[in-house]
Amino acid sequence: MTTPVTRDDAIAMDQGDPLSHKRDEFFLPDGVIYLCGNSLGPMPKHALSKIQTSLTEDWAKGLVTSWNTAGWFMMTDTLGDRVAKLLGANAGELVVSDATGLNIYKTLHAAISMRPGRKTIVCETASFPTDLYMIEGVTSLLSDMNVVLEGRDADNIEDLFTDDTAVVLLNQVDYRSGEIRDIKGLTAKAHAAGALVISDVCHSAGAIPVNLHEENVDFAVGCTYKYLNGGPGSPAFAYVARRHHGKFSQPLTGWHGHAEPFKFELNYRPGAGARALLSGTQPALAQVAVSAGLDIFEDVSMEALYAKGKKLSTVFADLIEHNCSAYGISFYSPKDVNKRNGQVSLTHEHGYAIMQALIARKVMGDFRQPDVLRFGIAPLYLRYVDLWDAANHLHDILRTEEWKEERFAVKKMVT
Ligand SMILES: Cc1ncc(COP(=O)(O)O)c(C=O)c1O
Repeated sequence: MTTPVTRDDAIAMDQGDPLSHKRDEFFLPDGVIYLCGNSLGPMPKHALSKIQTSLTEDWAKGLVTSWNTAGWFMMTDTLGDRVAKLLGANAGELVVSDATGLNIYKTLHAAISMRPGRKTIVCETASFPTDLYMIEGVTSLLSDMNVVLEGRDADNIEDLFTDDTAVVLLNQVDYRSGEIRDIKGLTAKAHAAGALVISDVCHSAGAIPVNLHEENVDFAVGCTYKYLNGGPGSPAFAYVARRHHGKFSQPLTGWHGHAEPFKFELNYRPGAGARALLSGTQPALAQVAVSAGLDIFEDVSMEALYAKGKKLSTVFADLIEHNCSAYGISFYSPKDVNKRNGQVSLTHEHGYAIMQALIARKVMGDFRQPDVLRFGIAPLYLRYVDLWDAANHLHDILRTEEWKEERFAVKKMVT
């Protein structure tokens, strides 16, 4: 076991942190240690003025002309190009739109349309549930498709790749544990079997360096409200590699995905590139918030952020291992920091109550069934001393059994 750093060490690490100035770009309430950026990123300060301008100038004064003059109509693409750059893709390959789940639905259909005759979808039982639910939705219409799952039908997902596999849906990072999958390696194996790959990057976009081209995935989907700090319910994104442009179809053929929406033609013709994945009108104000979140990434490299994220994660994990193991806490995340996206997940029989006690002390993480405490570690705004203090609070709550207070057992809707 490594000796954990002292609080003074953590303060010194903050003083030497070349990214420390980025914290000032966010609203973070006094005293809050925010370890929930893997669920909802905090608000970028300049989102306020950007959205205010959209309200008082673009909506109030520009009215309907703002679809043109404020660029609202094409924000699916302009934001998409910026997300593409962050994820190692090119302009025209990605659109910001809809929810991740909807984009999964569309890309599953798109991939299946490109592999006629193949009747199997491969996924993981550990996948985020909406991915599995969307597969159910797809197979309820395409009733001749089969679903096989890692964790149910085989231990290793690659053992499920056959010449009947149309599409493999992978989560690049496990939402519960933060574990990173070898997307590049798995994609090569899926391709060798003739299948296509959709990568769900919800927990990797903005957390680890993602390179969609290098990974060679066919489609990708992800959200902007976690590590990209786009705001509650902000629109998600969908990527399709250029080699597949014009070669797929998807069922939600709304007018925004039409080649010429303002021709109001009788029949659907798909738009160019990733635009063929669009469906309907998007929430412009929420898109403006996404742009504020993306601005913050303009002057930092994902490599530098990830390097800091690993150091933050190590400070926290070492302290937990050293101080909390005696109280029934176990690691759920991989112990090797290179195998997780920064997130540290722990298990404890009374995980829910322990998390509520932490939140009462303004240490915000979250809880996932059945017993997982999740701590998201976002290097844009977290300080080393925050991780030190958070681990200290957890130790204190366990040592004093503060979590046994009745109020911490009350179950909330969102955990
Ligand atoms: C890995 C993953 N996929 C999909 C989703 C669902 O996203 P949405 O609500 O945008 O459909 C989430 C939400 O947290 C997620 O973590």
